[in-house]
Amino acid sequence: MNAGLRDTFGRLHDNLRVSITDRCNIRCFYCMPERDAAFVERREILSYEEIERFVRIAVGMGISKVRVTGGEPLVRKDVPELVRKLAAIDGIEDLALTTNGILLPQLAEPLYQAGLRRLNVHLDTLDGERFARITRRDDLEPVLEGLALAKRLGFAPIKINAVAVKDLSEPDLVPLAHYGRENGFEIRFIEFMPLDAQGLWDRGRVLIADQIIETLSREIGPLEEIPDRDPRAPATQYRYADGGGTIGFIASVSRPFCRNCNRIRLTADGKLRYCLFAIEETDVKSLLRGGAPDDEIAARIRSTVLAKWEGHEINTARFVAPPRPMYAIGG
Ligand code: 5AD
Ligand code: SF4
Repeated sequence: MNAGLRDTFGRLHDNLRVSITDRCNIRCFYCMPERDAAFVERREILSYEEIERFVRIAVGMGISKVRVTGGEPLVRKDVPELVRKLAAIDGIEDLALTTNGILLPQLAEPLYQAGLRRLNVHLDTLDGERFARITRRDDLEPVLEGLALAKRLGFAPIKINAVAVKDLSEPDLVPLAHYGRENGFEIRFIEFMPLDAQGLWDRGRVLIADQIIETLSREIGPLEEIPDRDPRAPATQYRYADGGGTIGFIASVSRPFCRNCNRIRLTADGKLRYCLFAIEETDVKSLLRGGAPDDEIAARIRSTVLAKWEGHEINTARFVAPPRPMYAIGG
């Protein structure tokens, strides 16, 4: 057995997020620009064969959790084919996909058949008008339909990611929480992070986890923190005291979890990043395309992990937003 991917702060990396496209079929304001998003050219995007090879090498080094992301991963052709390739890699214990859900009505079944079981669906509101305001597209219905279908097919767990923005998301908190409770979906509220394409973020627009917890406890019922959950999972999990399910908070701004970070990220154009907020990144595409042997790619993965910094500094004056917005990194 190998020693695993440990960085200089002692953090073990077993989690790889693979972005397979930077394109998306909607335009959430906290991620994408409204128009003229700069997308990478098709030939710069790693092929499924290149992705599969990279993932195999990473799994050989101790990666056991793999998440497919975007942009919106389901806008890329034949995603079930990639899922099938990844699901067949020995050593992946956990294969998941993050999607905005719009294409789930067509793709949930083929994805399930390809071996996918875990889904994170991005959904900020259950109100059609608000959905259109946030995403600049009128596509709430297929998302809800896709979620219902995924549940019927047996995907588990199904989690819902909602980005929480101050003076915007407040009316959605309670309806989303009820919807999660009724359907057995874990809602995870994500604090708005400085990763949007238009520079709209500022600290005053972060709706912090504690405020959401207070609202939900008041409006729905008492919440208690679940003790002894995997300390390396980014979400802090709570459960309703009445047994009505769990709810998560990804409090990147108010409770940074860098100390426990276990992830690295591969962008759609073949760059390896040790942090969502990293300024530098390592090119692996040229190795994959230049005939480099597996150990050379492995060495580059190891050196990227060894270069990893202690964490983002969103809460300090030193913070510099990364040059790529969220859709170009992969959430
Ligand atoms: N802040 C926080 N979360 C974001 N996401 C996209 N942009 C931001 C942002 N600026 C989240 C979405 C998506 C995940 C991949 O990243 O919820 O589900
Ligand atoms: Fe698309 Fe996700 Fe970005 Fe929204 S957050 S625009 S769904 S990539």
